[in-house]
Parts: sequence; structure tokens; C-alpha cells
Amino acid sequence: MNFIDLPRMLAAHGGIRLPGSKSISNRALLLAALAEGVTEIHGLLASDDTARMLDALQTLGVELVGSGDGNWRVCGCGGQIPVRQAELFLGNAGTAFRSLTAVLALSGGDYVLKGVPRMHERPIGDLVNALSALGANIDYPGKSGYPPLQLKPAVIRPGGVVNIRGDVSSQFLTGLLMALPLTGVETTVQVEGELISRPYVEITLNLMARFGVRVARRGWQSFTVPAGARYGSPGVFYVEGDASSASYFLALGAIGATAANPVRVEGVGRNSIQGDVRFADALAQMGAVIEVEENRISASAPPEGLVGITLDCNAIPDAAMTLAIVALFAKGATRLNNIASWRVKETDRIAAMAQELGKLGARVEEGRDDLKITPPDDEHPLKPAIIDTYDDHRMAMCFSLASFAVPLRINDPACTTKTFPDYFDRFTRIARPAPVIAIDGPTASGKGTVSARVAAALGFHYLDSGALYRLTALAAREAGVDWADEAGVAAIASRLEVAFAENSVRLNGREVGEAIRSEVISAGASRVAALPAVRSALLFRQRAFHAAPGLVGDGRDMASVVFPGAPLKIFLTASARVRAERRYRQLRERGAVDDNAADYAAILADLEARDRRDRERPVAPLRQAPDARLLDTDALGIEEAVAQVLAWWREMTGARHV
Ligand code: DC
Repeated sequence: MNFIDLPRMLAAHGGIRLPGSKSISNRALLLAALAEGVTEIHGLLASDDTARMLDALQTLGVELVGSGDGNWRVCGCGGQIPVRQAELFLGNAGTAFRSLTAVLALSGGDYVLKGVPRMHERPIGDLVNALSALGANIDYPGKSGYPPLQLKPAVIRPGGVVNIRGDVSSQFLTGLLMALPLTGVETTVQVEGELISRPYVEITLNLMARFGVRVARRGWQSFTVPAGARYGSPGVFYVEGDASSASYFLALGAIGATAANPVRVEGVGRNSIQGDVRFADALAQMGAVIEVEENRISASAPPEGLVGITLDCNAIPDAAMTLAIVALFAKGATRLNNIASWRVKETDRIAAMAQELGKLGARVEEGRDDLKITPPDDEHPLKPAIIDTYDDHRMAMCFSLASFAVPLRINDPACTTKTFPDYFDRFTRIARPAPVIAIDGPTASGKGTVSARVAAALGFHYLDSGALYRLTALAAREAGVDWADEAGVAAIASRLEVAFAENSVRLNGREVGEAIRSEVISAGASRVAALPAVRSALLFRQRAFHAAPGLVGDGRDMASVVFPGAPLKIFLTASARVRAERRYRQLRERGAVDDNAADYAAILADLEARDRRDRERPVAPLRQAPDARLLDTDALGIEEAVAQVLAWWREMTGARHV
């Protein structure tokens, strides 16, 4: 599956144990590999980025043994990388690429470091220049200033002062600092320009200290690694939960949870060493109710609603992306400042965020290093959209939150494996969708009328999915596209300009309620409904009806394909004889058939033939879903059938009055 469709979410509650921090996992692995002695790491994140680091260390001859559940035993090499010649593929893992570049450049071997095409667009020249100043020999086989890199043995100049830019990526400084103990001499690193993302450097210093190397710093401009510094194993090392991953669940709470039932994230808290825990402060500034405990943070929505803020996001660049979506639920605009580093991450995140928010109909102003988001209002409502994720895990995770405003489709959700492989599974366990009642059944069973009345009684939206197939057939005919032309009809289906209102269906602004019920269009609908490409083109369009406060969906595959998770599924049927009688009566009232047995027999035969075709067709055959309740209306009038559906709904939801 290369997309996930999210229905409109109404509420959130529950708890989540966070996966391990990416930043801590990759630093701890590298430090444990360089240290003297064996380190037992617990709670290591299982993800693409950590897999790249594990692979690389293994290729370099470091002995690593995993025993499942994030537990790893790392036999440190005591600063001597065992394999002196290797080619490493590091995917799009910035933490692995920058730190391994520094370590390997200073360790006297012959190495090639490569990544995915996007990694080759992310600058690394500033780090390479600093390493070259220490005597490292580094070539760019591709574009100058960018990976891939070729590292050659070199004579490393002892000690002194080395300069590095701090305003592009803090990972340059992190990589350099982690590598310097390999030289054995005192070296001072001077940061040029403002140091961005400082909390990530704090994580680096904190972890180096845990592995026995204390860096002396003056402010955030100068860092000195002492002579004779050597990494030693701390023995056992526990990885904290990932504070950036926490941001999505805290935001879920701030948007959709009540104070009585907040969303709780376990694995980060008051004593976390990750800067992104400060994200909770930003949410609190927006009015969210936040409680921070030692190893847990809870969030819920304020009764008076969230408010927009202006924030310098330098210290929380990753978690700040989440604020861009929370902004949609606040009163007043939100301005995120000082986010230039977004432009050199997994994708150009400022551009990507502006582009995709725009698809939802949000008002966004993109600056060079800032982003302003104005929340929707009656004149500028949000609309369902298909969101692209640019192979950026955070784009996928952030946009899931927008489902609290509108149903949406997120393309390539698997990109979350970079840091959070089961994100969507966890998300859907905490976010509660608007309810949906799916009603399937054979032709002329009365499901259309029953569905519309149930929807009206509950105040829910109503989806007549058959109408979409009818509209597709009509639009194709008007465009001169043959009903057998699968690609042509599917293209028409994906572009349909339709508007449903009470007793009205409009195609390109023109009323077509009558036209789509004609015999010829009914036949066309049945033809185009058998084309798989047409069915998939209409899938998201149908799911986009899944809005608040709820939906009743009527049609062939509602319970099996369109809304397989519907809490109430009904298979509404009647014997062919009863359905034929109903149709015959209807047609007689309209004067369309005569009062004779032959006409009735013809209708019955036609219906039986259609049932057979519907049951036997390979694409979306007529079938009662295993978990659907059977509602046989042979002996029931419309009102009684409606009453039965409502009774089931009440029984299920525990609602006394609907
Ligand atoms: O329910 P209806 O008669 O308006 O449906 C029109 C056609 O579309 C009919 O041939 C069945 C088909 N259909 C379908 O294949 N899947 C649906 N979900 C709804 C209708």
C-alpha cells in the first residue's frame, strides 16, 4: 500500500510508550563502538537511520550483537577501527553520515561514504573543510561540497584550533566533537556564526561525558577536547524515548483530548536530555494543558481553545514542524521563525510544508527562514486533500494530525520507518475517527432510502456511492470517452466536479439528479463500476465524505473496501420476489409499465440476472461482509428498517437518544 487514508478524527486519548530517541541511539552506538570495553545498550530505536549506523559499524568490523527489543551488546574497538578499507551506504541518515565522516576522516583508513540521492544534495562542505584543516584527506567524487565522499589515509596535524560553521547544521559540530578524542591531543573547536539547534549539541556533550570524555566549553562558541581523552564504556546504557516522536502525540492531545482523559507519552519527561522536550512548552504557550513528570508528559486541549503564537524555533527545529499543523486548530495566526535549517533536511521542509498545507486550503506564507500559518475560517475552510510526503518521515507524521480537520490521504506513509516504523498503527490507536455506518445490499433492496433516512435521523453525512459511478458514466459519455476505456474513464472519475446537496446532484455546476437515473446511464454505471482503475480513482473521493459528526455510506463495497473499519455494517436485502414487486410497483406508479404479469416476470428475471452478475463479477462482487449484520426487509417497511438500524446503532454506542 503506498498511501494511507485517514478519516476525520474527532477525539484522542490513551497512552503511548515512545520508541527510542534517534539522536541518542545513533550517538550511543558510535560512542560505544569507539570506546574501550563492552556496552549493553537498552531501548535502541529500530528504524532506517539506526539500521544504517548498525550496518556501517558492522562493515567497519565492530562486533555488535542484538538480542531483540532494542537490546544490543557492542564490543568497543578502543578507538582503532578494525576494517581499514570500506564503502559505506548511509541512506538518508544525517546523524550517521556526518559523525562517521568525521570519525573515519581522522582514523587513517580508506573509505567511501554514500547515501540516497537526497543525501547527495545535503551540504557537508563545512565539516569537510574543518577536517581538512586538521590534515584529513577528503575528495568529492560527485559534486564539490556534497556527498558522496572519498576519505584517504592522511597525517593528522596534532591539536590546535579548528573552525567550523554553526549555522547550517549542528551535526557538523557534533561529528567533529565526537571524532576529536581519536587524535589524542588537545583541540579547540571555534564555531563561526550562530550555532543553530544547540540542544542537539547538548545531547552530544552529555553522551560524550557518559562515555568518559568531558568537553570544556566557553559559551556556545568554543569547545575544547582535552589531550589524552579516550572513550570508555559506561557498561549499561539506556536510550530515552524520542522527544521529536513525542511531539505528534502531545499535539494529538492538545488538539483532541480532554483534561480528564489526556494523551500520555511515556519515555520522556522532566529529566530528558533532548531539546525537543521543549516542544511541550510551545504547546503550553498555545494554551494546551501540559503535565510534565519525571518520565512522562501528558497533553490535553484547553476548554477555551488553542491560540496562535510567534516562536523562535531554533532550539526545536524538528518538533517545530508539528506546530505548523497544530496552528490549523488555533485561534489567530502562528508564525514559526528561525527555521532556515528546514531547507537542508530530508527535503526542503519549508517549501514542502507550504505546498502541502496549501493543498488543504490553508493560508500559508513562506519566508526564507520562516513560515506563517493562518487557521481556516468560514470563508477559508479546509478541504480533503492528498498529501505528498517527499520521503520525509516528519512530513507524513505531522500531516496525520490534520485529519482532526478533514479526511485526508497521505502518500508513502512507509517513509516513517526512518525513525518510527509503526507510527500510523500507534496513531490510529489513539485518534478516534468520526463514526461510519456502512450499508451494502443488492439492487432494489431499498438501501438508498434507508441510508438517507438513517443519516438524517443521526445528523450524519450521507454518501450514495452508486451516484458517483453514475456521475462517472454520465461525465464519460459527455466527454465522448467510451465506457470500456478503463484509463480514460478513470481519468474522468478522478477529476469529477460534483456537488451533493439535499435532493440535488450537480456535475460541473449543472443539475443532473434526473439524468443519472436514466436507464442508459444505469447501464453505463454498471459497466464503469466493473473497471478496477475507476474503482480506485473513486476510493479517496468516497472516503473524503467521512467527515464529522459521522457518515452513512451506501453501496456495493462500503463494508468491505471503502470503510472496512466501520463499527456498524449492515447487509440490507430482500428476496428477489419482494424486490421485483417493489420495482414493479414503482414503475407502475410512474406509468412506465402496464398492469400485467408478463411485465412483472420480466422485471423479476432481469433482477435475478443482475444479482447473479453482481455476485459473480470479479471486481467488488455483491457479498455480505463477514462482520455485517443481515437486515432482511421482506417483511419490513422502510420505517421499520430505519428503526432497526437506529436501534443497532444505539445498542452499539450506548446512546439513549438519537
Ligand atoms: O446503487 P446504484 O444503482 O445507484 O449503483 C449504480 C451502479 O454502480 C450499479 O451498477 C452498482 C455500482 N456500484 C458499485 O459497483 N459500487 C458501489 N459502491 C456502488 C454502486
